[in-house]
Amino acid sequence: MTRHFLTLLDLSTGELDWILKRASVLKAFRRKGEPHERSLLGKSIAILLEKVSTRTRLSFEIAAFELGAYPVVLIGRDTQLARGEPVEDTARMLNAYVHLVVYRTFGHDRLKALAQYSSIPVVNGLSDTHHPCQLLADLLTIGECFQRKGAELNGIRVAWVGDGNNVAHSWIEAAVLTGIELTLACPVGYGPNPSILNHALSKGARVQLTENPLLAIKGAHVVVTDVWASMGQEEEEFHRKAAFKGFTVDQNLMSLAAPNAIFLHCLPAHRGEEVTSEVIDGPQSRVWEEAENRLHTQKAILEWLLLGPHE
Ligand code: CP
Ligand code: NVA
Repeated sequence: MTRHFLTLLDLSTGELDWILKRASVLKAFRRKGEPHERSLLGKSIAILLEKVSTRTRLSFEIAAFELGAYPVVLIGRDTQLARGEPVEDTARMLNAYVHLVVYRTFGHDRLKALAQYSSIPVVNGLSDTHHPCQLLADLLTIGECFQRKGAELNGIRVAWVGDGNNVAHSWIEAAVLTGIELTLACPVGYGPNPSILNHALSKGARVQLTENPLLAIKGAHVVVTDVWASMGQEEEEFHRKAAFKGFTVDQNLMSLAAPNAIFLHCLPAHRGEEVTSEVIDGPQSRVWEEAENRLHTQKAILEWLLLGPHE
């Protein structure tokens, strides 16, 4: 059966562990300036983008190149998808050309439809409800900062301050697979999707919700946020700015976190909205390491899906 990576829960704990450890190995090679195995020689991958992207595109394109695969970037509006070709037909056609497709789109159903009609692995490069690739980089970053190997993040306390969006949902699923204790502080009406949250809770995830950022951040080892209006929500920006008042991660809030706490943000960031310049450019910020780790974790995802699941 073809494996896909549409949400973090498509991974077992063992597979997550393998991906994080493999990413660390590949990162070490690159850091030393040594070439690593070109394990995907002869493979081609498509990166199909219906929303804009900087990091996801760059990291998958370079990851494929460095592993010996050929990456083809397709901008959705320049494809027949923009003229109404069904995503199901696109899937059946892509199967014949490439060995894997990374898809960034709006509704998660489009991603599921692509996967359903695909005999090759489909990777979620971000949908309205999930951003699993981001979480792999975030978990690798936390592991590096707190000296935890692989998926052993038991007991790390994470505070999410902001919108209950796609990245927040993937954090909730990360709490299922790792031992992290996640508290989400979201304004009223902007919490996470209840069915994603309840599913995670039913699987034993330690996740709490609050409307008070101070409560969430108190004693946290990791403070994380994201934009207040995600791609596709541009028309809501004005109302969201009012609703998210008091949710800016500033130095005052950060001072409530654990003394060795780090700050993460998937980027792009809006300085002065969800985070102040002082925090994102300050000593606790690990956002650039986090962005770099996208490259190393994408390599591990590609190897996992194209060379067979490893545990
Ligand atoms: N974090 C992230 O996915 O960035 P891009 O939107 O630039 O790909
Ligand atoms: N929540 C953001 C993440 C961007 C990487 C968005 O969907 O726009």
